Amino acid sequence: MGKLKKGIILAGGSGSRLYPLTTFLTKQLQPVYDKPMIYYPLSTLIENGISDICLISKADQLPLFDSILGDGGKFGVQIEYRDQPRPEGIAQAFLIAESFIGDESVALILGDNIFHSSAVFGGAFRDFAEGACIFAYHVHDPQRYGVVAFDHHGKAVSLEEKPAKPRSSYAVPGLYLYDREVVRRTRELRPSPRGELEITDLNLAYLQRGALKVSRLPRGFAWLDAGTSSSLHEASSFVQTLEKRQGIKIGCPEEAAYRAGFIDRKRLCELILAMPTCEYKDYLVKFEAEIDMGTVIP
Ligand code: TTP
Repeated sequence: MGKLKKGIILAGGSGSRLYPLTTFLTKQLQPVYDKPMIYYPLSTLIENGISDICLISKADQLPLFDSILGDGGKFGVQIEYRDQPRPEGIAQAFLIAESFIGDESVALILGDNIFHSSAVFGGAFRDFAEGACIFAYHVHDPQRYGVVAFDHHGKAVSLEEKPAKPRSSYAVPGLYLYDREVVRRTRELRPSPRGELEITDLNLAYLQRGALKVSRLPRGFAWLDAGTSSSLHEASSFVQTLEKRQGIKIGCPEEAAYRAGFIDRKRLCELILAMPTCEYKDYLVKFEAEIDMGTVIP
């Protein structure tokens, strides 16, 4: 695993597009097929070797996250919790987590982003040294996202937040890697007309200094965001289809922790034993048995 050890999960926001589901329960705790949404970004971080995690959400939701994930010990990681009083922008995460970041590089993942498979990110996490690294994914509706355009040599030349006329079909997914300059650069940002510290402005600051790497994600890769009622439903269907067909689970932090070497087999068995009878447990029992068949490489 690489040098990047710290990660932030931003799981606040207003979730207005999911009303009335989000009246009492934040978006990132809603189910995506067979598990809470937060399991997916958490697994993505763990699969990529992140062991020190700061989860940011609204104060009234933090005890709920804590009751599901605790201090992260069961997954062999550390999780601490911070409050974002108002949704004032994705980049605000770095100001809230300033003391957590300290003098190190950090990954940021949005709590409603689902990636399959995370193996694609391995190199980016492993080799990350300085500057910033973001990803680009071809979508049919780029105007809903931050959009990155490239020149003829494939070099990123522009970044625009939700442009009416996108210059490319490449959207920027909610997973970003930054060096230790990130807090300082965030402090230099001014809130946008919608009153937010924009992640696109932060990425632009790195781009303008020639310090932004943009990695294009391959065609076979899946990135889903579950921010609207239909995309939440589609994400559930997608996960169900893949899990049934392949007999694997997407977003299973226990499996991710074992594969990352954060927990050993004994701990995995203890976690399984503590679960009630359910499909999730059945899956992990099968996974644990496959370790002996040599098909699971930790
Ligand atoms: P969005 O989907 O852009 O916003 P939202 O979750 O508030 O939803 P809606 O537009 O329906 O009101 O946010 C993307 C992710 O980032 C989501 O996981 C919430 C998170 N987020 C925060 O936690 N704090 C913030 O200040 C912002 C802007 C987003």
